[in-house]
Amino acid sequence: MTRDEGTYKAQSQHAAKAETRHEGTYKAQAARAAGNTASEEKHGRQRTKMVAPPNDYLVPERDALLTPVLECRHLGIDFGGLKAVEDLNLMVGKTEIAGLIGPNGAGKTTVFNLLTKVYQPTRGTILLDGQDTAGMDTARVSREGIARTFQNIRLFDTLTVEDNVKIGLHNQVECGMWSGIFRAPRYWLSEQEFHKRALELLDVFNMADSAGDIAGSLPYGAQRRLEIVRALATNPKLLLLDEPAAGMNPVETEELMDNIVKIRDQFQIAVLLIEHDMDLVMGICEGIVVLNFGKVIAKGTPEEIQANPQVVEAYLGKQE
Ligand SMILES: Nc1ncnc2c1ncn2[C@@H]1O[C@H](COP(=O)(O)OP(=O)(O)OP(=O)(O)O)[C@@H](O)[C@H]1O
Ligand SMILES: [Mg+2]
Repeated sequence: MTRDEGTYKAQSQHAAKAETRHEGTYKAQAARAAGNTASEEKHGRQRTKMVAPPNDYLVPERDALLTPVLECRHLGIDFGGLKAVEDLNLMVGKTEIAGLIGPNGAGKTTVFNLLTKVYQPTRGTILLDGQDTAGMDTARVSREGIARTFQNIRLFDTLTVEDNVKIGLHNQVECGMWSGIFRAPRYWLSEQEFHKRALELLDVFNMADSAGDIAGSLPYGAQRRLEIVRALATNPKLLLLDEPAAGMNPVETEELMDNIVKIRDQFQIAVLLIEHDMDLVMGICEGIVVLNFGKVIAKGTPEEIQANPQVVEAYLGKQE
């Protein structure tokens, strides 16, 4: 079995569980999310004004004059006869929090796999900060600024929390082989810098106290947070989160929402997230794209998406 097949099998199993877990929640969540959510009111978050640059995309007004961090044009991939993603046109503004939603099996994770070059597209173009990523591999797009977390947590669970973050940092800072072998001052300097930077990043989630703990021993919610910290350590321009709230309780989800906004504000990066929790999606996403059977069936603001009859029929209202 190849790594991708293994991943895919694990994801399918997870998806089957997720389906049961999400049943009946969409409608109630969507209703609660109409207008400003309770969470928005509590935290004083304001709705973003979205504008359309000279094409049919929608980005936050503050990003309208900047090169979008991500643009997909006519992106598609076939698995045998299955068009898992078809003609996807997508734009994410430089500091936007964007959502990718849709029923189980709609093609959402496949989009992330295309963006991170786990799969090469059958058709179409991906521009990262204006640069065509054709021909790049996973390591290159990571260096160019895309970081992701996975639907099923992937940490080095026998390593410490701090070492997991340092692995992300090593992606960014190269330390010459000879200075490493001879422990030259540059090596120590970067080790010290790494330690300091790892703690700073862990602090975003108030996790600096757990730096010495073994990653696999952390509670589930903390492991999901650590994955985000590790992704942040690669210094991304675009952070992809695949179901970050999966398995979290409502209090943890609420904290996660605040933290995603905080990360965007502090690091001035864009976030594209896949999520089934509609409170989270409607509460913090500025632009939303809805996929169904690999195709975009709607794009718009949270209000527009909730009022779109096709989305309600295909997704939001389907569990009645
Ligand atoms: N490597 C692969 N080989 C063959 N088919 C695949 C592969 N990866 C995904 N698919 C198929 O592509 C479609 C989209 O799958 P994907 O995992 O992207 O869905 P998803 O929207 O992320 O769903 P979920 O919400 O359940 O995570 C599904 O029909 C899936 O069976
Ligand atoms: Mg998925």
